[in-house]
Parts: sequence; structure tokens; C-alpha cells
Amino acid sequence: MRLEPLQDFLRLCSEIARSELPASQLLEKAIEACRSAGLSEDFARGFVGLVLAERERASGEKEGSGLGLREFASKAREMQESGIKVYRLELGEPDFSAPPSVIEAAYEAMKAGYSKYGPAAGIRELREAIASRLSERFGADLKAENIVVTAGGTFATYAAINVLTKPGDEVAVIEPAWPLYAHQARYLGRRVLTIRTSFEEDWDPVDKLQEKITKFTKLIIINYPNNPTGKILDRKSFEKLLEVAEDAGAWVVSDEVYIDFHYGGEPASALEFPSSKTLTLNSFSKTWGMTGWRIGYIVADPETAGKVAAAQNTAMTCIPEFVQRAALAALEDVESARRNVELIGRRLKILYEELSRSKLIDVKPPQGAMYIFPKIKVEGFDSWKFVRRLLEEKHVAVAPGASFGAYDNYLRISAVLDDEDLREACRRIRKGVEEYGSS
Ligand SMILES: Cc1ncc(COP(=O)(O)O)c(C=O)c1O
Repeated sequence: MRLEPLQDFLRLCSEIARSELPASQLLEKAIEACRSAGLSEDFARGFVGLVLAERERASGEKEGSGLGLREFASKAREMQESGIKVYRLELGEPDFSAPPSVIEAAYEAMKAGYSKYGPAAGIRELREAIASRLSERFGADLKAENIVVTAGGTFATYAAINVLTKPGDEVAVIEPAWPLYAHQARYLGRRVLTIRTSFEEDWDPVDKLQEKITKFTKLIIINYPNNPTGKILDRKSFEKLLEVAEDAGAWVVSDEVYIDFHYGGEPASALEFPSSKTLTLNSFSKTWGMTGWRIGYIVADPETAGKVAAAQNTAMTCIPEFVQRAALAALEDVESARRNVELIGRRLKILYEELSRSKLIDVKPPQGAMYIFPKIKVEGFDSWKFVRRLLEEKHVAVAPGASFGAYDNYLRISAVLDDEDLREACRRIRKGVEEYGSS
């Protein structure tokens, strides 16, 4: 083998590390250079993908570790603990706790000795119960082999990215988005392709995805009902989105942790569209107020499910069995789930009505999830500066739009306080925006 082409290829890699060109163009160049060096196209994709992922990771590090919102929440908590009444609407955590039926089931399971190591995929009873409920609800044909019980939705997305892609691969994230998708992908050495949707276009993802997806996109993460916008996707749009992914040969991870929270339209689930390249995930955190219990699940073909179970086995052995038995009780407690969903819906309506009263705030009627994502009509609005000031001066904590992508003109407000407190918080937010606008 002549070495000059290989040297040219390595030179190109170092150019890539510094270049501003879009990743897909750089990959095309690299594949070309690889061909003349007598190397395979797969080698080019893999090796250059890694260089690009490292370039992205390095620039991502400058933007922060993704812990900004958590640190901000700690500050709000400290203020609260010092005796100040703080209206806390910054986190995606329901204020209701697990229902008594769930706590009782956990206690009984502990007493009965369900506290040993268990199967990495989860106990069969729970996997079967999840499979049968989902099959009934979405007209799917699922068995226990399709289900893996995970440490919340958070580990489900992490494991999904890990098993469905390789380091250097491109993962598409539709923004605004839950910040952990991009952080997890980068942490695992994947590249992130950001698909930006807009308020003006009703947060519609389909055309944007079609426009931006590349032949290097291996995985698309979608989340409807959406955090932070609350958008739900109807059946037709969902189908179209899956078609775009299928044409590109990409996997789809459908994060459906808010699928129970819908107010008006009926959200579609990926489970309604049988496809070999879809992984769906859900969690007990939101519907039953079980955030700290750390339990969720993935639904996939048995081979993929096996890989997720293996990832979980490697990382944490299994989910505690008494927690899984409590989750079984949660599935039975349909009434608590219904009450929680109704409660959030009523509060979202209050948030919508209260925020609509300001000329400086543009807000869409809530469709789903637990949030409202108003647009602030103030030129040059800096969402981080605003939320810090709002906490200091008005004792209200909300999340800055900047945490969810390039959405500095937005705020995310969670429907996690009682009606009267929500009204008072909104009054303070309106005042805060007016003051910011005139400063
Ligand atoms: C969109 C989305 N996915 C997944 C999660 C993870 O939730 P958990 O790990 O508690 O199941 C959250 C939590 O806020 C979320 O908003």
C-alpha cells in the first residue's frame, strides 16, 4: 500500500477537527479521501465520525454540562429552606407522590423478601402486565420478550442510544427538547444533528426532519406529547415522520413518558405502527408521581430488548424487585393515574389563561404533557438572565427556554403547584416580564 493517500486522509482528519463545514459535507470529503487511500467507506464513516463527535463534544463542554437547570433548582430549594416562600415551577417533577396503593405494595414486597438480585430485563409478571396493557391500548401484539424494565426513562434513552448506534454515529434530536437526549448522545461519543422546530409553525417536526436528515443519521429521537412545548402528534403526522425515518434507514426512539397527559387531541404512539426499527419507552415517574422510584421500560423487538437488558445488566444488575412489584400495583391503580392527569390538565388551563393576559407573552393552548412554553415578546430577551432575576426578585422559579435548545425567547413553566399558587406565580411572571421589557 502506498502511504501518501493515507497521509492525505490523516491531514484531512485534522482539517475536519478545525473546520466549520457541516458534518455531512465533511463525511462526504472523508469518504472520497478514504477511497483514494484504498480504505473502506465504513472505515471513513467510523473514523471521521469519531473526530467529528470529539469536535462536537469539545464545543459542547464549553456550553456547560447540562447541569445548569439542576443547579438553578438547588438555589431555589436553598431559598425555600431558608424560610422564603418560593413558587417552584422549574422542574419536570409532579408535586403529587406515589399513590398509597403503590407504597403499600412496595412495603408488602419488602416484607415478603423481594429484595434479592433479579433478572436484568425485569420480573416476568411486570413485563407481561406491561405487554398486555400496551397491546390492548394500542392494538399491538406484544409479549414479555418485547419489554425491558429500566431505571426510569432516563436510563431507557441512554441504553437505547448505546445499543442502536456506534460512537461517531449521527443522532437527530428534534428541538426544543429534553436536554438529556443531546447530553447522553454526546457523552456516548455520538454526534447530534439538531432539528429546530418553531412556535410559528406549530412546533411541527415532519418537514424540518425531512429537510435536515442526512444519509449519516442513524437514530431519531422523538417525544410527543412533548417536553417542553406540550405538542402532541396526530396519527397522520406520526406516520409521516416514521416514513421519513424509514426512507433514511434510521431507527426511531419514541419517548412517550407523557402519553397519558393529553388535553383535546389523542396522541399517537409508535406502538400503533409496527416497524422493526422503532424503540418506544415510557416511565412510571409522571403518571403516578414516582420520580424517585426510578422505574420505566422500553418496548422493542426481542433482539434489541435483549441488548438493552445486557446494557442494564452491565451498568446496574437489575431494578429492585420491590420497586417492580410497586409498579405492578401502579398499573392496576387506573383511578390515581386518571386523577393525576386531570389535575395537571386543570392547572395547564390556569397557566394558559393567566399568561395570556400579558401583551408581552404569546402562548398556545396546552395539548399535552405537564408544561407550557410561552414565547416572550421582548427584543433581546435573555432567558437565563430573566429566570435568575425572577427568582431573586419575585421568588418564582421557572426554566429558561435556553435549556431546551436555541430558544432564548421562551420559558418553560411546569404545572406542579396548586391553583392559587399558580395564579400568584403567573401574576409575578407577568410583572417580571413587563419590568424586564422596560429595563
Ligand atoms: C421527555 C422526558 N423523557 C424522559 C424523562 C425521564 O424521566 P424518568 O427518568 O424519571 O423516567 C423525562 C423527565 O423529565 C422527560 O421529560
